[in-house]
Amino acid sequence: MKTGVLASGGGTNLQSLIDQWRKGALAPAELAVVGANVAGAQALERAAQAGIPTFVLSHKAFATREDFDRALAGELRGRGIELVVLAGFMRVLSPAFLDAFPNRVVNIHPALLPSFPGVHAQKQAFDYGVKVSGCTVHFVDAGTDTGPIIAQTAVPVLDGDDEESLRLRILAEEHRLLPAVVRAVAAGRVTIEGRRVRVAGGAL
Ligand code: GRF
Repeated sequence: MKTGVLASGGGTNLQSLIDQWRKGALAPAELAVVGANVAGAQALERAAQAGIPTFVLSHKAFATREDFDRALAGELRGRGIELVVLAGFMRVLSPAFLDAFPNRVVNIHPALLPSFPGVHAQKQAFDYGVKVSGCTVHFVDAGTDTGPIIAQTAVPVLDGDDEESLRLRILAEEHRLLPAVVRAVAAGRVTIEGRRVRVAGGAL
């Protein structure tokens, strides 16, 4: 399944996908393109190093969110992309994008949704004082981090933690969970029934 990854920043989650793909462990997903809305995003460099085609589409070049979203969908569809992975893509996508990929857009979020949606989720969780946090991979709907949950991994928040140590503990789990979900979705093992998502073959 031809898979496109969208990122805005460093791209360590993209790197985890690349590493699995190179080992043959992402199949039947195939990393076909990486797109960014920010020129100079390190994710683009990681993709180039791996020989994956890249593109930059700046949202600033478009008058409206819908115009950008339509152009972004067109770019991906034009390359035959069937599955879209948001890996640190810092834009909310409207139906103008999502309708082009029904139930085929997944996002990784660094908290246990529905707690702490939006930006700076690790800081939100740390400041709140929760004892457990983690990461969530979910299908994307038109809300902010509100789509049906595919898989979650919990991590403890330890007494000695600061925001950064918590961020890194969560990130290590993100790097395991996201490729596992991409593999399962591409293999057709993931089905949606309303808000409930089932993964055949066991939890991820
Ligand atoms: C990750 O924490 C991800 O959960 C969030 O944005 C961050 C991206 O990190 N959506 P990276 O660019 O993959 O290193």
